Amino acid sequence: MQRIAKDRDGAAVWVKQGARSDTPARLGTESGRHSGMSTLAAMAISVTPAADADAAALAAVAAATFPLACPPSAAAEDVAAFIATHLSVQCFGDYLTDPDRIVLSASDSDGDSHRIVGYTMLIRGVGTDPDIGRAVRQRPAVEVSKMYVLPSHHSTGAASALMRAAIDWARADGAAAAWLGVNENNARAQRFYRKHGFEIAGSRTFRLGGGTESDFVMVRSL
Ligand SMILES: CC(C)(COP(=O)(O)OP(=O)(O)OC[C@H]1O[C@@H](n2cnc3c(N)ncnc32)[C@H](O)[C@@H]1OP(=O)(O)O)[C@@H](O)C(=O)NCCC(=O)NCCS
Repeated sequence: MQRIAKDRDGAAVWVKQGARSDTPARLGTESGRHSGMSTLAAMAISVTPAADADAAALAAVAAATFPLACPPSAAAEDVAAFIATHLSVQCFGDYLTDPDRIVLSASDSDGDSHRIVGYTMLIRGVGTDPDIGRAVRQRPAVEVSKMYVLPSHHSTGAASALMRAAIDWARADGAAAAWLGVNENNARAQRFYRKHGFEIAGSRTFRLGGGTESDFVMVRSL
């Protein structure tokens, strides 16, 4: 188990429960270096554990980005209902206080201003879906439950910084594997996950309102 602490410079760090706090793993801070940076030259992305006060900003990013992960066949009212039920400010408030979850946010810093441009949420375990139990063989495992970045920051390295911090957190938490579900039609996300070492290990179905979506289950050893 881990807790969040600050190091001497005030940076957020993970500290294992019962471990000394003078050798923490610092979370990512990254200057953009991808081709997209020609238009975002001053961008500096920092990844930190989200705080309770970030719930509204996270919900806004979630509402803007969740539709991007849905296939064109998904009904707009089902997508809207999912956002209202699972991605509200109240929901993020609950996620942020759940001891088995961690939300990491990516912020774009420009001078003194910081804006959340993406987030990931990790959940300990594999849940109760037998399809996932079959696909994810290693234990303990951590789910990369959400990985969302605003379109303005796609291909800038922000998502990669989030993923690196997620993997660091899962390793420090003692997980043997990380897993996730991604829509079968979401080719961009699948490519991103493959770049970060995830492989398709199975599939699962996912209820979105009246429809049933098919996800690949992707797994990576840690
Ligand atoms: C998934 C996401 C976090 C990845 O971040 P990103 O900044 O786009 O990722 P990257 O640019 O580093 O990697 C994407 C890769 O897919 C490629 N790609 C882009 N469009 C593609 C497409 N239509 N089909 C296949 N690959 C595609 C990119 O070229 C890149 O590969 P490369 O680095 O080898 O060139 C981001 O796209 C996102 O938030 N998408 C919307 C929400 C979403 O789908 N989340 C995942 C839910 S499971």
